[in-house]
Amino acid sequence: MTAPTRLILRRPDDWHVHLRDGDMLEVVAGYSARQFARAIVMPNLVPPVTTPAAAAYRERILAAPGSAGFTPLMTLYLTDDADPRAVAEGHAAGIFTAAKLYPANATTNSAHGVTDVRNIHPVLATMQRIGMPLLIHGEVTDPAVDVFDREKMFIDRVFAGLVRDFPELKMVFEHITTAEAAEFVMAAGPNVAATVTPQHLHINRNALFAGGLRPHAYCLPVAKREEHRLAVRRAATSGSPKFFLGTDSAPHAIERKESGCGCAGIFNAPFAIESYAKAFEEEGAIDRLEAFASENGPRFYGLPLNEEWIALERAAVDVPERIEAAGTHLVPFHAGETLPWRYVGAA
Ligand code: DOR
Ligand code: ZN
Repeated sequence: MTAPTRLILRRPDDWHVHLRDGDMLEVVAGYSARQFARAIVMPNLVPPVTTPAAAAYRERILAAPGSAGFTPLMTLYLTDDADPRAVAEGHAAGIFTAAKLYPANATTNSAHGVTDVRNIHPVLATMQRIGMPLLIHGEVTDPAVDVFDREKMFIDRVFAGLVRDFPELKMVFEHITTAEAAEFVMAAGPNVAATVTPQHLHINRNALFAGGLRPHAYCLPVAKREEHRLAVRRAATSGSPKFFLGTDSAPHAIERKESGCGCAGIFNAPFAIESYAKAFEEEGAIDRLEAFASENGPRFYGLPLNEEWIALERAAVDVPERIEAAGTHLVPFHAGETLPWRYVGAA
């Protein structure tokens, strides 16, 4: 069989993205909107999106250049004192599609996150009852735990208990990076799923130190050993409906990345679908890309599939070293590389 030269996919969605706000939002929203029909928008702004003020944030996203036809799905940032009634009302009003659990201080702008999941048990009980998904940044923050073990430790210390205590709650283990997370999700009931980023399909932790310190390969959860990358690849390309596309595209201005204390986050939005296509093809699973990118996510969330299609063609795409943005630059994932599939647009 000859390799295909053109791919037609149902238009994909991004089930995890950081669109930021202000000038940065204006620059980055279009990169997501040109590929994805919908996106689950992360709420870790300053201040975090904890109230129905999210409706105004949603309007700012829709007003950004290139956002025509794009549907942002908003998430509520859970805090220790989140009110179950307010969460349910926000969901019923269509303002919040899901709620995000950041363990306090786990990552960028998570200082207001949850200090102990027991504090939000009443909220989780409500979410379970109304069918509202819980999106989980699955890392413990205990400084005594090695950074590379924080995801695995979260399973034992927190996630296993959530699955036991809330057997019907829809939970998404976001941006999985370990074999343990992939196995945990696979073994759990149909209420537990996971998102997978492009970077965790392509890089292992060596990328952080290739010839010197590489801040643009740094994100959280941090990339792990090669065996974990391979396990995450196998899960994503397995055909299991539990794994779906979530880029975790997280832009930071170049000077915030190339710094004595560089921010965590990889800006992968500009070539996201091309990046996933490369990984799936390398795994001999290009025929499973559509389910991962365009079907498994909406089915898990209980939303309709998109009724539009996009095309990719086999053509070399040169990823620029940097992209101008809001008076500074962003370094995209795969900067300086050539990717084998090109996103053409609507099919
Ligand atoms: O690398 C990351 N960047 N991981 C996160 O969890 C947050 C994100 C950000 O907002 O920059
Ligand atoms: Zn994220």
